[in-house]
Amino acid sequence: MHLSLEGRPPDTAGVRVIQAALDAGVRLIDTADVYCLDQDDIGHNERLIAKALAGWSGDRDAVLVATKGGMVRPEGRWERDGSPEHLRAACHRSLRALGVERIDLYQLHAPDPRVPFAESVGALGALRDEGKVRWIGLSNVSVAQLREARDLAPITAVQNRLNPFFRESLVDGMVAYCGEQGIGFLAYSPTGGGRLNRKLPEHPVVSAIAARVGASAHAVVLAWVLSRGPAVIVIPSARSVEHALDASGAGDLVLASDDLAAIDAAEFSRA
Ligand SMILES: NC(=O)c1ccc[n+]([C@@H]2O[C@H](COP(=O)([O-])OP(=O)(O)OC[C@H]3O[C@@H](n4cnc5c(N)ncnc54)[C@H](OP(=O)(O)O)[C@@H]3O)[C@@H](O)[C@H]2O)c1
Repeated sequence: MHLSLEGRPPDTAGVRVIQAALDAGVRLIDTADVYCLDQDDIGHNERLIAKALAGWSGDRDAVLVATKGGMVRPEGRWERDGSPEHLRAACHRSLRALGVERIDLYQLHAPDPRVPFAESVGALGALRDEGKVRWIGLSNVSVAQLREARDLAPITAVQNRLNPFFRESLVDGMVAYCGEQGIGFLAYSPTGGGRLNRKLPEHPVVSAIAARVGASAHAVVLAWVLSRGPAVIVIPSARSVEHALDASGAGDLVLASDDLAAIDAAEFSRA
């Protein structure tokens, strides 16, 4: 996401970050049509990923690219549009930007309060039936909305926020429900997002564990998020090769139960 928003690096550097992650073994990339500067720039992140994959020497078919539709960026603002017409047009634009005939995982970015939820989900179901989309995902949804959607179309993944600062996905039962039902849970902003992640290296509990196990504070937190349930996948972002490599290494980090419990119990101030 941050390779395409305000403050992004040049595209050549962005391509290097994506390829470094792929070389390190990352096989899932999450993007969205609206990871860009404004409406004129729609699809920037998808085009960047397509470029990185085209110039990569590994097996393109082993990489899963998940994208999203259902938002727009008029004059750089973030607004929702979950209408079937918009979702259909956005999906076709994403197919072109990614340079593929079928999107691996197409996610509704967020429910649109002005559009009946069933209509948005129905549009994704139709795109799947037509072969434009392999799997359907939902982002920023409640358990009740997920249950409703599952009556309308097969839902493969949910993408909601989960990090030590924001634990609502644990409290509302979404992570547990996904685990029970075999639905992937993609934890977004897994280290806290653009602002809060910067507090991690100074966090007393996290920094002590990081020093002891010889990992970064960010990697420790990614390991904690991954340990929250069998369905949990983390989708950290990175703007530098160094951060991409650090995050990709976190998958191998297994924390002791005492360390996990210490992070569970610690306070993570959002101030
Ligand atoms: N569905 C949704 O509504 C939604 C909303 C938000 C995000 N997302 C998804 O979640 C992804 C991640 O979200 P996010 O960027 O908000 O949160 P995040 O991954 O928790 O935060 C990433 C930040 O951590 C920094 N970082 C990573 N490793 C580091 C390290 N070892 N040392 C120091 N800093 C490090 C990165 O800095 P640099 O940038 O300097 O590398 C980046 O700014 C996005 O790319 C997007 O795919 C989805």
